Amino acid sequence: MASAPRMAGAGVSPVAAALTAEFSSDVVIGLSHTGQKELPSKYLYDEVGSALFDVICLLPEYGLSRAGMRLLQRDSHEIVSLLPTPVLVAELGSGSGQKTRLLLQALSKRQRVNYYPIDISGSALSRCQQEIGQMDRVSIVGFESAYLEGLQEVAARRQEGERILVLFLGSTIGNFDRPAGDQFLREVRKILSEGDALLLATDLVKPIEQLLLAYDDPAGVTAAFNMNLLARVNRELGADFDLRQFEHVARYDECERRVEMHLRSKAWQRVTIQTANQRFYLREGETIWTESSHKYNPAEVVEMGERTGFRCERQWFDAEWPFAQNLFFAV
Ligand code: AVI
Repeated sequence: MASAPRMAGAGVSPVAAALTAEFSSDVVIGLSHTGQKELPSKYLYDEVGSALFDVICLLPEYGLSRAGMRLLQRDSHEIVSLLPTPVLVAELGSGSGQKTRLLLQALSKRQRVNYYPIDISGSALSRCQQEIGQMDRVSIVGFESAYLEGLQEVAARRQEGERILVLFLGSTIGNFDRPAGDQFLREVRKILSEGDALLLATDLVKPIEQLLLAYDDPAGVTAAFNMNLLARVNRELGADFDLRQFEHVARYDECERRVEMHLRSKAWQRVTIQTANQRFYLREGETIWTESSHKYNPAEVVEMGERTGFRCERQWFDAEWPFAQNLFFAV
């Protein structure tokens, strides 16, 4: 696995120390907002958060990942038939590798495949390695890094005449604000060359009740996933959030077409973040905004690609849970 060096033995490596410093600074900035307090959603995914997210994907109320899986089960061969040859595969966020396996299986019937999952989490890459590592005619090299840095490294490995297929599955694009999502796709496009492909998954607009249940399930798994963010701040930054004084809230903003997750303070309270030597106050009813999950219309996804340097070749839709796989080519 290609990754930033980690120091062996006792003590904290410089990389780990830098990550903690960045986490601390992001938390302080987000909680210092005079209006809406925020915490960046990327911090939801420590080891506990990632395990809770895996459980969310099994919940009957959260149809998103099953829809993505069904589409790849049904359409992988057709997707592969539209790809240039030879093509290497880079995946932004390796996930469990389950969905990717379906696509790699179809592709490996046509050619030997070099597959490069890119993830900031080493444990996610290890799980992916387990799922994909034994596949015939597929070789895997993981990059433990941020998406764009990793993609740059993968692009530098491309052979003469070889194209790149970028996978961005699971509708993670929905966790960016719309302008930031555009900006991200532009950055991806800059790294690619004309004719390279992007398979982008997008969750689509659906009835509000269905969305709210998906993000506020009766078993409370999503609530635990959200609440774990405060627990993580306590664990890693020596904060004293009292989790019993918060509740999980999921809201739908119809204008922005997004589900928002918040943590609402049940009382006036003071929180201290020891490592940053900072104190924050929350009023009763005040919320900390932790995640947005944007929902799209099919035509809007085509336009998003066109604005950012791509042409949409095809879209595939799931009949049970409105969701799309979108194949783009860089122009
Ligand atoms: C990873 N991402 C696409 C999920 C979503 O649906 O926005 C994260 C999630 N948050 C709550 N439930 C799932």
